[in-house]
Amino acid sequence: MTDDRYREFPTGFFDRQDEGDDRAFYSMPRLVTHIDERAIEAVGLVYEHLELDRGRVIDLMSSWISHFKSSPDTLVALGMNRSELAANDMADGAVIADLNRAPVLPFASSSFDGAVCCVSIDYLTNPIELFDEVARVVADGGRFCCTFSNRCFPTKAIAGWLHGDDRSHIDLVARYFDLSGRWRDVSAAVAIEPGRGGDPLYAVWATAANTDEVSR
Ligand SMILES: C[S@@+](CC[C@H](N)C(=O)[O-])C[C@H]1O[C@@H](n2cnc3c(N)ncnc32)[C@H](O)[C@@H]1O
Repeated sequence: MTDDRYREFPTGFFDRQDEGDDRAFYSMPRLVTHIDERAIEAVGLVYEHLELDRGRVIDLMSSWISHFKSSPDTLVALGMNRSELAANDMADGAVIADLNRAPVLPFASSSFDGAVCCVSIDYLTNPIELFDEVARVVADGGRFCCTFSNRCFPTKAIAGWLHGDDRSHIDLVARYFDLSGRWRDVSAAVAIEPGRGGDPLYAVWATAANTDEVSR
């Protein structure tokens, strides 16, 4: 990796067992849920609490459900599988993009009031560039919230995620926000504690600050 901001990560941290084209892996629609009902409910409550359920919102690495308790005014779902996104009743628009091939969002700056990414952050191989991009397309003061549990497609998750635990995952996502340098007020919450018989649920979020002064 040439971006100097990755220097703290050991060699191989962003490697995956399956380095094949993500488009092939996600070509088959998976109209399933990746977390249990209680965790889905918790994601919706987090979005509501962070006021991410209003205005123009982008759901990154999306599929057929976006987990909001009530739809934002406009929701764009970006993912890899056209059939999954077409089945997303909440979405007003769908965009297919492979964020590992190019961590670029095909939207004008400040197109959105907020962004979310549910149970997918562990698949990103260029997360810092993507967090830069999310800050660009989210208007100043808007939030980006990443939620995750403790399951994944292991062959497609980065090695650094597979070798970590839930606590280190929270720290890692917070670090992505910090290393991007375009976010302030990085925060985290345990929405569902582990060991309660269902999926745990964690949230890490921050506020877009596309200005020179960024503080944590
Ligand atoms: C575990 S599913 C989660 C789907 C959805 N966010 C949810 O909460 O149910 C992982 C999602 O990440 C998306 N994804 C994986 N790799 C991606 C990539 N390189 N670029 C864009 N999206 C990707 C896939 O389309 C897939 O829908």
